[in-house]
Amino acid sequence: GKNGYRHYMEKELHEHPIVIGQTLRRFVDPSSHKIILPHMPFDLSTLKRGIITACGSAFYAGLIGRYWLEEYARLPIDIDVASEMRYRNPPVESQGMGLVISQSGETADTLAALRNLKNEHQKIVSILNNEFSTIARESDVVLGTDAGVEIAVASTKAFTAQLTVLSCLTLVIAREKNKITPENKKVCLTALMDLPSRVAEVLQMKDKIQEIAHKIANAQSVIYLGRGIMYPVAMEGALKLKEISYIHADAYAAGEMKHGPIALIDQTVPVIAVVPSGFLFEKTLSNLQEAKARGGHIIAFTDAKGAEALSTIAEQIIILPTVHAFVAPILYTVPVQMLAYEAAILKGTDVDQPRNLAKSVTVE
Ligand code: F6R
Repeated sequence: GKNGYRHYMEKELHEHPIVIGQTLRRFVDPSSHKIILPHMPFDLSTLKRGIITACGSAFYAGLIGRYWLEEYARLPIDIDVASEMRYRNPPVESQGMGLVISQSGETADTLAALRNLKNEHQKIVSILNNEFSTIARESDVVLGTDAGVEIAVASTKAFTAQLTVLSCLTLVIAREKNKITPENKKVCLTALMDLPSRVAEVLQMKDKIQEIAHKIANAQSVIYLGRGIMYPVAMEGALKLKEISYIHADAYAAGEMKHGPIALIDQTVPVIAVVPSGFLFEKTLSNLQEAKARGGHIIAFTDAKGAEALSTIAEQIIILPTVHAFVAPILYTVPVQMLAYEAAILKGTDVDQPRNLAKSVTVE
């Protein structure tokens, strides 16, 4: 049942902390704090590249994984949605890592892309919530997400679980390739272990999120902005809003605004910025200033430090717990999913079963 929650989606949102913790316990040894993965079909220390494919939210998890793997493990990554990857025929060196991400493990395009990657002699590592699925059977290694059954059509807890696995994979590859210092690895891992508590704090911010939902529920269109690793978080926010509230939304890399999308901005278009302090904060800030100068109504998700700098630019600010940059994309996912949920409630849509959508897309 829904355990007293309004919808399965709300119940599953509230499972974020438990699911992140469970997934970490699966891969992190409690006494040594060493991350232990199943045996990999290649030598991680000499791995040369990775190619990632997935659909929808799982693809956004992959985009975040690309930033992590490139930044922390210095592993070159190619990535595309599976419906494109399966027909793209990119040149790939054999013995690379084909990284496939899927909640259901049954998505037709993702499965087809996996088979193509296998034909190109990639070893398939898949990140799956259903470890008994078709994609599981056709993979060389399965990294399970331990999110439990997800009933709402819109993915929530499976997404943060995918990110948790990707973060562990990143730290292991970074360690094996000697691209991260033990100290830095420890800082990242500590931030991950601390994440369930921080996420639980965010889940308490329902009233504040509802206030924001009121601001966007009557909009024709909403723009989400982020830069760097927060750009895919903006994409996740926009997809969830479209999917369950039927409000048009799009995400842009904030630096791209001036190349076209800024023409959309006026008083009627809420601009939602996903912008923790730190790397790229100042850059995003100036992009937001440009939007504000065109009448844009800015709503910012940030931390205490970011809130100070945003106070004259944003009309609404949601102050999230301050966390290490490594785990910020996981934390910031939670309020953007909550916002989509609360907006859908105001719209009166069928939140768990949005129109035209199926939980598992087993046809091309
Ligand atoms: C969005 C959503 C979809 C799925 C996509 C992939 O909320 O749920 O975009 O992420 O259909 O599904 P899986 O992960 O089962 O391959």
